[in-house]
Amino acid sequence: MTSSIQFKILSTSSNTNARRGRLITPHGTIDTPVFMPVGTQATVKTLSPFELREMGAGIILSNTYHLHLRPGEDLVDEAGGLHQFMRWPGAVLTDSGGFQVFSLAKLRKITDEGVTFRSHIDGSPRFFSPETVMEIENKLGADIIMAFDECPPYPATREYIETSLKRTLAWAKRCKASHQRSDQQALFGIVQGGMYADLRREAALSLVDLDFPGYAIGGLSVGEPKPMMNEVLADVVCHLPVDKPRYLMGVGSPDDLFEGVERGVDMFDCVLPTRIARNGTVMTSRGKVVLKNAQYSRDFGPLDENCDCQVCKVYTRAYLRHLLKAGEVLGIRLTSYHNVYFLLDMMKKIRKSIEEDRFLAFKREFYESYGFASND
Ligand code: GUN
Ligand code: ZN
Repeated sequence: MTSSIQFKILSTSSNTNARRGRLITPHGTIDTPVFMPVGTQATVKTLSPFELREMGAGIILSNTYHLHLRPGEDLVDEAGGLHQFMRWPGAVLTDSGGFQVFSLAKLRKITDEGVTFRSHIDGSPRFFSPETVMEIENKLGADIIMAFDECPPYPATREYIETSLKRTLAWAKRCKASHQRSDQQALFGIVQGGMYADLRREAALSLVDLDFPGYAIGGLSVGEPKPMMNEVLADVVCHLPVDKPRYLMGVGSPDDLFEGVERGVDMFDCVLPTRIARNGTVMTSRGKVVLKNAQYSRDFGPLDENCDCQVCKVYTRAYLRHLLKAGEVLGIRLTSYHNVYFLLDMMKKIRKSIEEDRFLAFKREFYESYGFASND
């Protein structure tokens, strides 16, 4: 069967694994490498679809776990699917709940059949299996849907990871078998295997054997040191097909995005820009700024003098700081807008640098200005 998405590599970097690509979905064409803002509950917190469009977002992520619990997939289906329900014209990817069930749900019990757990909202009993999750994701109607997996904790014993991976691979196969809408929704497999190189390799090879239209790398950024994450990532990527999109799940600090792109990752998502915005931290070309600090009380300059976003064109740090201190909703809306814009703009510059084959030079320049130590 032909896939509902198409992926093309437009150019590659000569001295790293970075690639510049294009992902064609039923809801638009996405330039990669791409950062996907997170809209857990069918909204990117505080931002409207108009604003997301204006800042150039092409694809957002939403969560099966949350939408199943509230408002329920049947209601979203009745509304005409997620795009229609939230009035977002771009592409959507839904995560499977394989992460949230393990981080948010209470009293969970895992068997080969699936996971029983209690809702973190009202304590009601629930059951997720590859089959139930595919049914939910089919009803939500995202352009890209994720297989149901287990994201194991770090650290974990080799024995635990072996058992968990076996289950995740069996679940991937069952997801593929029960996915009813592969003509409209692309199902991605998720590589797990903890920090064990041979298990990661086994995971990648087994999934590639099942032939998914894209592959995600899960179970990273779970508390392991950054050099370990980067090593696992480089290992996994070399077992994945070059002509399929690669998605590093839940990763999105500026340095993680550069390191991921350098190793050949095409897609990323993270709550970081919106989460830190809500406690008053913004990313700028000169590093992070904690707006509540007293030093900004009379700072009448923009958040970032090098940012072209609507917020930086208009507002001062002093005013934004005041809004945040006073608990005004506009404050967190404006910091969220700037932070999401900042990462989208950074990815745009990364894409340009790959096209012009100066990715590493751009990375060095960015790190220097942001205040990261460069590791090459
Ligand atoms: N989000 C971040 N990490 C993961 C993961 O390992 N699995 C899933 N399903 N989602 C994630
Ligand atoms: Zn800005």
